[in-house]
Amino acid sequence: MAAVLEARGLSKSFGGLQAVVDIDFSVAQGEVLGIAGPNGSGKSTLFNILTKVPFAADRGAVLLDGRPIQRLRAHEIARLGVARTFQRESVFPSLSAVDNVLLAAEGARRGNFAANLAAAEQALDLAGFPATLHNMVAGQLPVFLRKLVMIASALALQPRVLLLDEPASSLTPQEIERIRDLIAKLVGEGMTILLIEHVLPLLTAVSDRLMVLDHGTLIASGLPADVIANPAVIEAYLGRER
Ligand SMILES: Nc1ncnc2c1ncn2[C@@H]1O[C@H](COP(=O)(O)OP(=O)(O)O)[C@@H](O)[C@H]1O
Ligand SMILES: [Mg+2]
Repeated sequence: MAAVLEARGLSKSFGGLQAVVDIDFSVAQGEVLGIAGPNGSGKSTLFNILTKVPFAADRGAVLLDGRPIQRLRAHEIARLGVARTFQRESVFPSLSAVDNVLLAAEGARRGNFAANLAAAEQALDLAGFPATLHNMVAGQLPVFLRKLVMIASALALQPRVLLLDEPASSLTPQEIERIRDLIAKLVGEGMTILLIEHVLPLLTAVSDRLMVLDHGTLIASGLPADVIANPAVIEAYLGRER
């Protein structure tokens, strides 16, 4: 199947630290590509350089529908349909849920206020955010709902490719189940998803394919069951985290 998003030779260093080293991957429409790896292995940096939020790769190409996008500016990449969430919470605590999402919609869409507001409300609904809480100040929401606000902010861009950076961290098993359902729903609508996740049951359940980074390098990729049984992957996790 034709790739929606493709990376070729993506690399990023911080001074002497090679955070992402020569990464290649491609993901087809409606596919979920899971990304695993120990802390500091370069997962979030990969999302940063794919979206240019907040910085670009040093080297390599990113293609959307075969078209190079790595020279575009971050907001242009977002407008073309590549949206992300952040590992760290990135809601504005003093704004309401809907105003948080509206800001994202206004930043990336060209619609008028009414159209952007409608997009923001739709995005909250799509994320499964309770209709009665749209006007609640985000800082007063529980962590799960703040996460949904962040996901809705990405959905407001009406992305074709959604990059989720550890959406399940600090959630209860029931909430993780809802994230899993949400991912299934978005994929059902044709969205393509890149999912970074430490919660392995979620990652292996929703991912069509998995890739594992270690020290910025791709050490394994393939079907989830094969990848998590791969000795190099076990070594990468057990060798350093325990
Ligand atoms: N803005 C930055 N400046 C300097 N070093 C960074 C920056 N962002 C990430 N790093 C370093 O790059 C490596 C990869 O980080 P990161 O991509 O956040 O890993 P992961 O998401 O897999 O935990 C780590 O060693 C981290 O300390
Ligand atoms: Mg990270």
